[in-house]
Amino acid sequence: MTETLTIALSKGRILDDTLPLLKQAGIEPLEDLEKSRKLIFDTTDPSVRLLIVRATDVPTYVELGAADLGVAGKDVLMEYGSQGLYEPLDLKIANCRLMTAGPVNTPEPRGRLRVATKFVNVARRYYAEQGRQVEVIKLYGSMELAPLVGLADKIIDVVDTGNTLRANGLEPQELIATISSRLIVNKAAMKMKHARIKALIDLLAAAVEQRA
Ligand code: ATP
Ligand code: PRP
Ligand code: MG
Repeated sequence: MTETLTIALSKGRILDDTLPLLKQAGIEPLEDLEKSRKLIFDTTDPSVRLLIVRATDVPTYVELGAADLGVAGKDVLMEYGSQGLYEPLDLKIANCRLMTAGPVNTPEPRGRLRVATKFVNVARRYYAEQGRQVEVIKLYGSMELAPLVGLADKIIDVVDTGNTLRANGLEPQELIATISSRLIVNKAAMKMKHARIKALIDLLAAAVEQRA
């Protein structure tokens, strides 16, 4: 009997960039994921199914074993904490940088810095390492707005072209990490379905190389 594999992905850039890699590994969804309202999809490989979850939820599904594998941004993994997961492959997709950013030509405020971000764990760790006192304000999106309306002095967010920062009068400041998306694997599944998962990792690694 063939072991089944469940792979968690998120809609948008991760799905767009992962599907060509999966295709090269012989896995194609049987319908258009972006058009459907369904959240579970069969593929051309009868033993593989795809789940669509929120980007920040991918590590949860994989760590708790609801999915065997997943694709998540390194930013999401840094925030989630990846000790409960294996991270065997850099897919080199959804490349960006995790940065601090603030209003152009604005000196740092004296006293405690207020930093708005959805990456609160990353933010606390980053400033603690620097010995800087900060107040971290948790947001779920549109972080660029926070400094414009006095909610925070700075933000921490991912930056690619810098267009979003520029459009809001902000500039990138300190680089926290360079980011790409990673294949993640449930620890028990890696043991129980080792040959199957290893074969898929090898096919995906070859697809990544070919794309480079
Ligand atoms: P949600 O839409 O559920 O709030 P999200 O905004 O994190 O989640 P995406 O925008 O699809 O979801 O981002 C997925 C991953 O892609 C991020 O974790 C990050 O690693 C990367 N990413 C985010 N924005 C960009 C960008 N502008 N350019 C390149 N990669 C990006
Ligand atoms: C992401 C991120 C930044 C922007 C950075 O937003 O949150 O706002 O991209 O990219 P840039 O430097 O090229 O402008 P996204 O496009 O994912 O929109 P979202 O708010 O729906 O997450
Ligand atoms: Mg986004």
